[in-house]
Amino acid sequence: MMVKGQGCYLWDIENRKYLDFTAGIAVNALGHCDPEMSKLIGQQARTLIHTSNLYHNPWIGALSQLLVQKTCASGSMSSASKVFVCNSGSEANEAAIKFARKVGKIRQPDGEKHEIVSFNNSFHGRTMGSLSATPNPKYQKPFGPMIPGFRYGTYNDVEGVRELVTEKTCGVIVEPIQGEGGVNVATVEFLQALRDRCNEVGAVLVYDEIQCGLSRTGQLWAHASLPPSAHPDILTTAKALGNGFPIGATMVTEEIAECIVTGDHGTTFGGNPLACRLAHYIISRLSDPELQNGVLEKEQTFRKGFERLQNRFPEAIKEVRGKGLILGLQLTQNPTPIVTAARERGLLIITCGTNTLRFVPPLIISDEEIEEGLGILEQAMDVALNQSGVEGTKGQQEMAPTGR
Ligand SMILES: Cc1ncc(COP(=O)(O)O)c(C=O)c1O
Repeated sequence: MMVKGQGCYLWDIENRKYLDFTAGIAVNALGHCDPEMSKLIGQQARTLIHTSNLYHNPWIGALSQLLVQKTCASGSMSSASKVFVCNSGSEANEAAIKFARKVGKIRQPDGEKHEIVSFNNSFHGRTMGSLSATPNPKYQKPFGPMIPGFRYGTYNDVEGVRELVTEKTCGVIVEPIQGEGGVNVATVEFLQALRDRCNEVGAVLVYDEIQCGLSRTGQLWAHASLPPSAHPDILTTAKALGNGFPIGATMVTEEIAECIVTGDHGTTFGGNPLACRLAHYIISRLSDPELQNGVLEKEQTFRKGFERLQNRFPEAIKEVRGKGLILGLQLTQNPTPIVTAARERGLLIITCGTNTLRFVPPLIISDEEIEEGLGILEQAMDVALNQSGVEGTKGQQEMAPTGR
């Protein structure tokens, strides 16, 4: 039970200290209890917390404008134009799915154009729409049937795109880097093929950057290195946007915005001045080039450490994946004993996909903290792998618990 946080550390109820390589599942990019953020919470809480969406407030406009400005300046989503502000990642995707459906109806009023395409091993959330786009039996099965009209394809399968995305498709949703699914990076060819096919059939392309976005890859958005010809129509974000305070956002192009009228979609809490003021501050910090360069430098510190671990445990580590500070170590066996041994030694770490250790620390982490964590991880692997040597290597887990 965690009771206190500061920077990259957490303390539990028994005052044990933990180095946090999870950042609240890729949320606390600025670390825990960033002092300026704490100050702003106090200031805004004394000024105005909530008014509902019946009235404008200064911060929803300022946040939307900053998101659009920073996005365009970063070389991503070149035609970003308007923002819907909500309270979580699932809600941001729910809005994206609804917007795609509405665009489909406008483009083809007979209602045929209603299918949403997503990909195996994706995670888009747990509301019925976002869950229907998350083809993982573990999450879907207890709550079936899913919403009709969802189709699933194979991630990075360029050849399959043509058959998957058809005239019936109104939207395609994809993570440029799959987080929960195992830190799988989309190829440029795959995202370009999706964009081209969406253009051909008149479907909306949605990039879910809820986990991989907001400078976690060293660029504001994970798709920033793509040419404008592969940019999305809709981008969803949440997690780090509030550094722990609940907020999500769905950014759209002018073309999409024109299809959505006031009252089509809404939320009582979404866009409240407190969340928006915080997100405005957080975006200005996370879009700092110095912070972004630091992310790439720290990636190298992690990668060097992973090389050492691979040399030490060649049988256990199959592959390193990811970019910036969203990294995955593909293991050959169930990582849960390693996670437990690490926690017992003061390091918090999570899993994802199938037998993958996931590294999504605060972006402000120092090299010393990374080395400290990797040292603990080595000890944990030593203990867990030697213990499991007898029986642990057999029977790989089908779908390792993702720590969620
Ligand atoms: C890529 C992605 N999309 C959507 C979500 C759902 O976000 P939330 O849990 O805030 O609803 C997550 C959460 O892990 C995510 O990683």
